[in-house]
Amino acid sequence: MTVQHFLTLNDLPATELRDIIRNAIELKRQRSNNSAQQPLTGKVLAMIFEKSSTRTRVSFEAGMAQLGGSALFLSPNDTQLGRGEPIEDSARVISSMVDIVMVRTFAHSKIEAFAANSRVPVINALTDDYHPCQLLADMQTYVEKRGDIAGKTVAWVGDGNNMCHSYINAAAQFDFELRIACPKGFEPDASLSQRHSDRVSITQKPQDAVAGADLVVTDTWASMGQEDEKQQRIEQFKGFQVNHELMSLAAGDALFMHCLPAYRGMEVSSELLEDGAISVVWDEAENRLHAQKALMLHLLQAAS
Ligand code: CP
Ligand code: NVA
Repeated sequence: MTVQHFLTLNDLPATELRDIIRNAIELKRQRSNNSAQQPLTGKVLAMIFEKSSTRTRVSFEAGMAQLGGSALFLSPNDTQLGRGEPIEDSARVISSMVDIVMVRTFAHSKIEAFAANSRVPVINALTDDYHPCQLLADMQTYVEKRGDIAGKTVAWVGDGNNMCHSYINAAAQFDFELRIACPKGFEPDASLSQRHSDRVSITQKPQDAVAGADLVVTDTWASMGQEDEKQQRIEQFKGFQVNHELMSLAAGDALFMHCLPAYRGMEVSSELLEDGAISVVWDEAENRLHAQKALMLHLLQAAS
């Protein structure tokens, strides 16, 4: 039997992504009324982090514990991964001892190599190219606040980075229009955006992308691994801050999302981030927990 991984949103059919989001909403309800079950008792999640994390680590670790299982935090500093043991060998060994693995790393090819050698499901917890778990939480949040996102318009303002790439995949999987506004030279991967040119457009004018949009999303201008470019990027991204003025061009009931961590006064104004009538970033962060619990249940059910 082939193992079902989750390296990008394209690894599951749209119907299954929708099932996961429905179940995430149900798991959230059960947790709030103390009726949660522990279907993953005895299961172990290995969490490999080669980059920093707050939300991803806490949501996976807490989520697995809440489902009755346990989680192992593995960093390159304390494992042989940091001393050059090939990723393929690490994948064979780790996956022989646990039930599911989560990896946060740099090159996307690294998680692909891990998955190719893993006998258990592998979840992408962020690579330089994609962040699909965040999209599950974002889609859950939109559904909870506004209903189905199909047919809506989403504006991505900022860097054409891993989050932007996952939004491109989401546009196809969840059936919405995506308008991307980024400075010249910071566009998302051209082959990916061209593949979805029926629903994805790119502009250098944030105002054009946001006009009438139902959801406006941004992210840091300097992702993990780009720390050296931070100062230069602040200059290059001038005019790309999402704030109340920009949001005033969006639809009347438009929402603002940001995967966090946010840099107030840079990609988002402090006032907008804290404006609970528009900004749903805290619900979005909490939904990482519920969405990933539903994801792990889905992948482990498929494996059983
Ligand atoms: N949004 C997100 O993935 O946050 P962390 O880097 O804190 O995990
Ligand atoms: N684009 C950001 C997302 C952080 C959750 C990064 O890769 O650092």
